[in-house]
Amino acid sequence: MANKIIIVRTIAELRRHIATWRADGLSVGLVPTMGALHDGHFSLVEQSIKTTDRTVTTLFVNPKQFGPHEDLDVYPRDEAADVAALAEKGVHMLFAPSLDEMYAEESVTAISVPGIGDVLEGSFRPGFFTGVATVVAKLLIQALPDRAFFGEKDYQQLRVITRMTEDLDIPVEIVGCPIVREEDGLALSSRNAYLSPEERKNAPALGQALQKVKDELAAGTSITATVEAAKASLLNGGFTKVDYIAVCDRNSLEELETPTKEARILGAAWLGKTRLIDNLG
Ligand code: PAJ
Repeated sequence: MANKIIIVRTIAELRRHIATWRADGLSVGLVPTMGALHDGHFSLVEQSIKTTDRTVTTLFVNPKQFGPHEDLDVYPRDEAADVAALAEKGVHMLFAPSLDEMYAEESVTAISVPGIGDVLEGSFRPGFFTGVATVVAKLLIQALPDRAFFGEKDYQQLRVITRMTEDLDIPVEIVGCPIVREEDGLALSSRNAYLSPEERKNAPALGQALQKVKDELAAGTSITATVEAAKASLLNGGFTKVDYIAVCDRNSLEELETPTKEARILGAAWLGKTRLIDNLG
């Protein structure tokens, strides 16, 4: 049976409901999203429902994290389907603010997370993590949940948000959740909807290439050799461009020269007009 979900569109309403819950001694979990929800998002929702008394999902397609030539205008949106699914999952409240509610016209403050936010995704998508850190800081301050849930699918994002939350002393526990994959191994993503049938068939090769890097490193191959081989195999397997495949320290995301147990392997590559990312530990 679907839960009755409260939908709020203003920060004042969000805070009013959360204050009522707080007065009753209830704990609060926050799951920020940009909508077009799938089982990856729902895994975060389930984790929040399991570990907190009240779960708030946010739905806001944040223009500040899209570059000028990125897919803001065509990003998939289906609020009615998202609301129905969240109610079914037992989410208590959806916060879906308008652009004006989130960013007042005179708003100029941005939060940048240098270093960890400049490498990998940050170097291919300038401004992306500043947009993410700014909107997530605002959401955390608006809701002040006990915990906020983020997917390891966007591993660097999770690290940037953890750094930002610690640096700004925001009293919220950031919880990372494992990647949810399709049966053939493709990591679920709202952007998978852009793939043609042929591209969809080739898409799992990205995760497979990262797994092969992991296996070869364990067998003693050098990082350079295995990364170059992985890039070549993607280009042979239908990918049109590889932005990076990198073996990094799992906390700092600094690239490693020799593999360690702390390594995280991350990749980003293009299938035609669609850019996919994936990673594994
Ligand atoms: P979005 O892409 O909608 O993702 C929302 C959350 O779902 C993120 O924490 C993301 O890592 C998680 N997620 C997506 N696919 C997943 C998968 N296959 N397995 C596990 N988790 C998955 O990420 C954003 O939105 C935005 O940048 C946001 C944090 C909301 C700020 O605007």
